[in-house]
Amino acid sequence: MSRKNQTLGEFIIENQTSFKYSSGELSRLINSIRLAAKVVNHEVNKAGLVDIIGAAGDTNIQGEDQQKLDVYANDKFIQTLTNRNIVCGIASEEEDDFISINSQDENNQNKYVVLIDPLDGSSNIDVNVSVGTIFSVYRRVTPVGTPVTLDDFLQKGSQQVAAGYVIYGTSTMLVYTTGDGVNGFTLNPAIGTFYLSHPDMQFPKDGKIYSVNEGNYIHFPQGIKDYIKYCQKEEGDRPYTSRYIGSLVSDFHRNMIKGGIYLYPKSSMNSNGKLRLLYECNPMAFLAEQANAKASDGFTRIMDIEPTELHQRVPFVCGSKNMVEKCESFMREAQ
Ligand code: AHG
Ligand code: MN
Ligand code: MN
Repeated sequence: MSRKNQTLGEFIIENQTSFKYSSGELSRLINSIRLAAKVVNHEVNKAGLVDIIGAAGDTNIQGEDQQKLDVYANDKFIQTLTNRNIVCGIASEEEDDFISINSQDENNQNKYVVLIDPLDGSSNIDVNVSVGTIFSVYRRVTPVGTPVTLDDFLQKGSQQVAAGYVIYGTSTMLVYTTGDGVNGFTLNPAIGTFYLSHPDMQFPKDGKIYSVNEGNYIHFPQGIKDYIKYCQKEEGDRPYTSRYIGSLVSDFHRNMIKGGIYLYPKSSMNSNGKLRLLYECNPMAFLAEQANAKASDGFTRIMDIEPTELHQRVPFVCGSKNMVEKCESFMREAQ
């Protein structure tokens, strides 16, 4: 039984037996993420104080500038999971290829792979706006003790065992699911402990907030344009409020608490949108569905999409059930 104010450590132990294939391995994994989150949180919080802000000078495989904290967060999460010998493979938005962690060693019984977006919303760091970390966990499909392959990472979102995010906001929170609802833990920075502050999080079925980069409006598909006009129309409980932070974790978190929809559609510039299926959309979709909400690409459930490459992008519509369904109906009509 989860209790408000219990620590994340206590919660993990108490809930271990409810995991489908419990061997303590997933608990150790969540514990490692908790540790890495605290380390990254410490660094994010002093970003304004030290000379750590700004581009690291590299670009990642997708041609985007890497920020110093992107690299730092990437290294910390990979190091923590590697040093503790917790997983057999990691894929990261910031790495060109997946990483095998002693997976070829026949004594290595670790069966999980982790996919991460180490720092989400990184362009917000320079302006002191919330950023996050997103993670997604799968059971490997190839046998333990053999090298991990691309197949272990290219699994449908519906195969996820756990997913979550850390939000480095006005307070730092770790929000995650292991397929049995969504729970949110807030960090008490004075003692470095996460406490259960948001048990059993649920999206309201309806909402009044829409989050989309409207600067791209002219490039959006007709169905999305029609839905945005619907949100702005004066009728019933509309017009809705527009809120866009530009960091998926933060926009999602607010929408989950208040009710709302997040959209990153395809456009005439990006034929598949911008967000990455494996590092961003699938984990957020798993959380959304576990919190009584929906995630689709406008037509298809995100977690049913068969991935074909590690850094694949997809259009993303996610949030309160009735809002996502309304948007999907505009998409169908415009086809
Ligand atoms: P990342 O920092 O990991 O590259 O992700 C940024 C993503 C997402 O968090 C955010 O909602 C979106 O990009 C913002 O994109 P636009 O600036 O194009 O609106
Ligand atoms: Mn991101
Ligand atoms: Mn990122």
